[in-house]
Amino acid sequence: MKFISIQEALDKKEGKVSLRGWVYRERKQKEMAFIVMRDSSNIIQCVVKEDKVSKKEWEDANKILIESSLEIEGTLKEDKRAPTGYELQVSKLNVIHFAEKFPISKDHSPEFLLDVRHLSLRSRKLTNVLKVRSTVFKAIHDYFRSFGYYEYHSPCFTPNAAEGGSTLFKVDYFGKPIYLTQTWQLYAEAGIFALEKIYTIAPSFRSEKSKTSRHLTEYWHAEVETAWQHFPELLDLAEGLIKYIVKTVLKENKKELDILGRDTKKLEPIVKEKFPRITYKEALKILEQKAKIKIPYGKDLRTVEEDALSKLYNTPVFVTHYPKIIKAFYMKEDDKDKGAVLGSDLIATEGYGEIIGASERETDIKELEKKLKAQGEDPKKYGWYLDTRRYGSVPHAGFGLGVERVIAWVCGLDNIKDAIPFPRTMLRYQP
Ligand code: 4AD
Ligand code: MG
Repeated sequence: MKFISIQEALDKKEGKVSLRGWVYRERKQKEMAFIVMRDSSNIIQCVVKEDKVSKKEWEDANKILIESSLEIEGTLKEDKRAPTGYELQVSKLNVIHFAEKFPISKDHSPEFLLDVRHLSLRSRKLTNVLKVRSTVFKAIHDYFRSFGYYEYHSPCFTPNAAEGGSTLFKVDYFGKPIYLTQTWQLYAEAGIFALEKIYTIAPSFRSEKSKTSRHLTEYWHAEVETAWQHFPELLDLAEGLIKYIVKTVLKENKKELDILGRDTKKLEPIVKEKFPRITYKEALKILEQKAKIKIPYGKDLRTVEEDALSKLYNTPVFVTHYPKIIKAFYMKEDDKDKGAVLGSDLIATEGYGEIIGASERETDIKELEKKLKAQGEDPKKYGWYLDTRRYGSVPHAGFGLGVERVIAWVCGLDNIKDAIPFPRTMLRYQP
């Protein structure tokens, strides 16, 4: 008989089926053994009765431990008490591998689960997060391609800092010190002269010394760069992407979000309502008036302030026009608001923090050199990058989205570490 998935069997509701998967739970009684089996699609309760199978099959069913792999043939029967509403009455059982005693049972610390991540990856929670993750990647590709963007790639080894020196990972490159990339951006700004509209999804590296629930040292970065684009259209593109991701996940992952316990009502306004756009100065005022938090002009918003702000809106909010002294050297100063940049952070709802960093890029070579120097960089090391302003310079803009931040937010996770199969943080680089 042809194997079908557990979900296909549940949809079929009745008849004889062949399934294969792993033991999720097992409980033995005198003449009956209950095996809850899982595969990538769902779980189903299977009941093995001593008088319905061979002697060997009955012995195997009694020996079997959690995570053993098996093939089962049986008949479906509706059963309201079973975890997914159906029970499989087993007529054939073939154990493919008898698992050793699985090291994970209930009530382990999050740190232990991360130590055995290669095994805890099979949990229902992570299986469902990984499905949402797959949808998010697909949605990003589909969104950009639907607007005629080309996928373009930048190197991971780089001689330059783009997001400040403090989060650079140094690599010994045949005796020379270079870095792991923090962003594709400088290479993307060279790429638009060939392709005009480009995007990528690739790992970025930040040597973050902070142990927070939203920082990884290696994360997947969805980035876009567009020739001829100005600031307002840049924010439109970013808003459209977030809406498209959330809409797609709501459509394709209802079941997964349900298993994860996500309150999807909180995600619905994101698809329907326009995201507010407030300036940094307005944000300071709002924080003072509505959250009783006072911040002096020129200080960056920290996690507490971002969280307080996010609680005031039921969609993400763009904070624009940060003071140029606290933002990256490549952000363009606003002609109409000197000292502030045409840059924005998009702050997610429910305290999930910054999910996108965006800006129109500075095109004035003198300004770029000045700002690089002010940040302690040697403009000579950026000669190749400054060439992009020497040969047919055009207005352009782009943004970067932290894919795990978006996954953690959409799934309602407590920690960003559960948004990626093998998280890397300051304290964790294994397994
Ligand atoms: O705001 P960032 O630093 O912006 C850039 O790198 C720009 N060069 C992007 C561009 O314009 N092409 O990073 C962009 C996003 C942040 O908004 C955040 O979502 C995510 O990357 N991010 C991280 N995600 C997980 N762990 C970290 N340590 C992150 N640092 C940034
Ligand atoms: Mg940022």
